[in-house]
Amino acid sequence: MRTFRAETGGDLRMLQCSIWFKARGVAVDLFFPASAIKTAVMAESFSTDSLPADKIDRYGALAEEIAAVLEGEPNLVARMATSASMLAAAFPDFLWTGFYIVDAANPRELVVGPYQGTLGCLRIAFGRGVCGTAAAEARTVIVRDVEAFEGHIACDSRSRSEIVVPVFDAAGALIAVLDIDSARLGAFDEEDARALEGIVRAVFGEGS
Ligand code: SME
Repeated sequence: MRTFRAETGGDLRMLQCSIWFKARGVAVDLFFPASAIKTAVMAESFSTDSLPADKIDRYGALAEEIAAVLEGEPNLVARMATSASMLAAAFPDFLWTGFYIVDAANPRELVVGPYQGTLGCLRIAFGRGVCGTAAAEARTVIVRDVEAFEGHIACDSRSRSEIVVPVFDAAGALIAVLDIDSARLGAFDEEDARALEGIVRAVFGEGS
């Protein structure tokens, strides 16, 4: 078997390449800088088992985990996808967890971003549904019972309650909303609102 040595520069995609080469009889020795190894280890070692059961403590511990995994990663899609994945994993009650992003081509419209869950609708105009309301009013909207919210957009028929949190960048501009649905009635309260606002502020806003 031929062996090649490769300096990765921290690019974890090279792992996939090395697996491809190995399958074809070529061994590749990869060298990762310490920062890349830290990221890879952290991502793999995220376990919801170690998170506290208490809701507020759980959000707090999760916020630290998200910050650790995202440290040094400026890409917005990566930050949204990772936050959605970790939130959904930490709270099995979350039926749909993801972002609707302010469309650069039409700043009065949201377009679906990274999410975990069943198929979400692609676009939501400002002022429409729970997401459009949160975006238009730049405030967190808690919906105890989606059937009682006039104009609620049903993407998953199992959804019974919902929370939508506005996402601001470091300059204070609205860039997206974080939308979370639950199959349980009244799943979200002010504690969820404050905790989720803190997480999006740390990941995308002044704390990022
Ligand atoms: N229910 C949302 C639409 C998005 S889905 O829940 C994924 C709303 O009323 O804005």
